[in-house]
Amino acid sequence: MLLENKVAIVTGAASGIGLAIAEKFLAEGAKVVLSDVSDAKNVADKYGDKAMFYKCDVSQSAEVDALIKTAIDKFGGLDIMINNAGIATNGSASDTTDEVWHKTIEVNLSGVFYGLRAASKVMLANKTKGVIINTASIAGVVGFQGSLAYCASKGGIIQLTRAAALDLGKAGIRVNAIAPGVITTNMTKAYLSDPGFQKMVEAMTPMGYPGKSEDIAGAALYLASDNAAYVTGVVLNVDGGWLAQ
Ligand SMILES: NC(=O)c1ccc[n+]([C@@H]2O[C@H](COP(=O)([O-])OP(=O)(O)OC[C@H]3O[C@@H](n4cnc5c(N)ncnc54)[C@H](O)[C@@H]3O)[C@@H](O)[C@H]2O)c1
Repeated sequence: MLLENKVAIVTGAASGIGLAIAEKFLAEGAKVVLSDVSDAKNVADKYGDKAMFYKCDVSQSAEVDALIKTAIDKFGGLDIMINNAGIATNGSASDTTDEVWHKTIEVNLSGVFYGLRAASKVMLANKTKGVIINTASIAGVVGFQGSLAYCASKGGIIQLTRAAALDLGKAGIRVNAIAPGVITTNMTKAYLSDPGFQKMVEAMTPMGYPGKSEDIAGAALYLASDNAAYVTGVVLNVDGGWLAQ
């Protein structure tokens, strides 16, 4: 098992990519705090003492600090922080409202920053050679029409990841991002139920189909494990080839 006795926190763990990462890590021997604004206690309960649910809105820094403290109190340390919670929003250059802009940045970008800051602080204090993984997106690398704030938030995550990798490298704390392509989850199922959108995804994806949450969980497992011991500051595209063109 690749994560025997490691302690991990996964935000946005109630569904989709976060849930798949949490379950993959549990299967690999980690102890996991599943965190979300929505309830995931029923999932955590399936794993007994190895897992717990903690409700946390990542856009509130005090709640994120409390999440980190709870994980340490419960499992005695923190080795892996997965900053994954996010929301998809719509709005173009000319019509994105203040409300959509601030909400998107607060959840997607500030939420990752709060998790990164709180996790790295305890990893440094405890001299833990930890791992921090941030869920970005292909929308953080290339633009998508009508998703202005989302693209900006995901691009911000990528730069935050690189800067943090420099700050934390000497301490042995690795910081990486994953850029998923279009993955079938609650976030995308409404879009994918539109045959026009599904066709566009098939056409834009060299592999020809949307990915699964498990595809992202496999990449997260690699980055979290010692197999990636010399990997930091990277953006791992898990996108069926979308960004290769
Ligand atoms: N699905 C895709 O195609 C895709 C592509 C690229 C990136 N992503 C990113 O992957 C991550 C996971 O998305 P998903 O596709 O699994 O979607 P999802 O909607 O299934 O899961 C997102 C989870 O985040 C939680 N969440 C939302 N706001 C939160 C907040 N303020 N605090 C804590 N939790 C909150 C939701 O309750 C939900 O459980 C997101 O960051 C998303 O932007 C998804």
